[in-house]
Amino acid sequence: MVDQILQSNGLIKEFPTGGLSIGKNKGRPSKKRILDGITFDLPKGLSLALLGPNGSGKTTLLKTLSTIYSPDGGGATVCGYDIVSEIKEVRKRISFVTPSMDFQKKLTLKQTLDFFVKVTGGDMALAKDFIEELQLDHLWNTKLETFSEGQKAITRLCVGLQKNPEILFADEVTNGIDFRRKQVVLDFLEKQGRERTLVLVDHDPEVVDVLCDKILLIALGGTVRGMVDVAELHSKFNYMYDIMVIPKGTVTKKEVKDIWSRYEMIGGMCRFFASNREEATEIHERVIKWGNFIDIKTSGISIEDITLMWLKKHEDELEERLQEDRKKAKEAELARAAKKKKATNKRRKKAG
Ligand SMILES: Nc1ncnc2c1ncn2[C@@H]1O[C@H](COP(=O)(O)OP(=O)(O)O)[C@@H](O)[C@H]1O
Ligand SMILES: [Mg+2]
Repeated sequence: MVDQILQSNGLIKEFPTGGLSIGKNKGRPSKKRILDGITFDLPKGLSLALLGPNGSGKTTLLKTLSTIYSPDGGGATVCGYDIVSEIKEVRKRISFVTPSMDFQKKLTLKQTLDFFVKVTGGDMALAKDFIEELQLDHLWNTKLETFSEGQKAITRLCVGLQKNPEILFADEVTNGIDFRRKQVVLDFLEKQGRERTLVLVDHDPEVVDVLCDKILLIALGGTVRGMVDVAELHSKFNYMYDIMVIPKGTVTKKEVKDIWSRYEMIGGMCRFFASNREEATEIHERVIKWGNFIDIKTSGISIEDITLMWLKKHEDELEERLQEDRKKAKEAELARAAKKKKATNKRRKKAG
């Protein structure tokens, strides 16, 4: 039985720069290392979000685990299968969804899904359920050329889902889906949470919050910065939205407190804290009813900000864990090398 749905041991990915190397490898095509020894485990039944600055290698990691790119070092298993030597087994069990996935514009949604169901041996019923829950049945016989960005995003998710994958890798796929439909998408994916692992990159803190159990923080240079529990983050920082209000003239503390009890007054401004979107909407409504303001702005406190705050508090503990992971990766590498050597010796003995 596999108890880890994902296991990455010192995964390395490099891309050619287009130039030539100098120094030791003089004259050979030069390479840039994008993933520099990514090591982590994800237990079965849990879902993961990748977080990190632009260019840190999140998409490259998703593509390498999805077998679109082959690694240049280290290794990984997906659903218990090796991403290089058991590539077919891996591909049977996963879907990879990305906004760069494009379709034949002249085909209808139904024709598009029919095609993918045939090619991947998928399940049309699952795709149909998804479209029905979203109340988008009217799109079934509509050509994709008329679809909005949000509808295209839904189509991509649908293509990923119809395969009924054990792992759905999704790279920023909820962008463009309107607020109400996003809630339905989240509900749908959350309901399936136990059967399906999600590994995703998403800028909406709510998506990560609702769908993921763990966050893998990736640093520039393609290294792991740490793995964090979403529940743990929330027990430490239980707010997600920040509503800034500029009042007309002066206001009393009581006035502000009557609007919402979790508040702060900075300079002449009031700041309210909400734990979720419903609370943020409620605060908005109350401020508007109160009416004594010039401006109101809501911003999501990104889960990335919260993660970074959390990381600062746990530097030492994380360093220990990272060292342990590195040691484990080294041991796994040595074990692989020893196994290879043993096999070679055996072959030699047999031959000679
Ligand atoms: N196919 C490729 N060829 C060469 N360089 C690439 C390729 N794909 C990504 N890169 C480079 O790898 C780095 C990481 O990219 P990416 O994985 O897309 O990061 P992220 O998704 O975290 O923003 C970037 O510097 C990018 O330019
Ligand atoms: Mg990316």
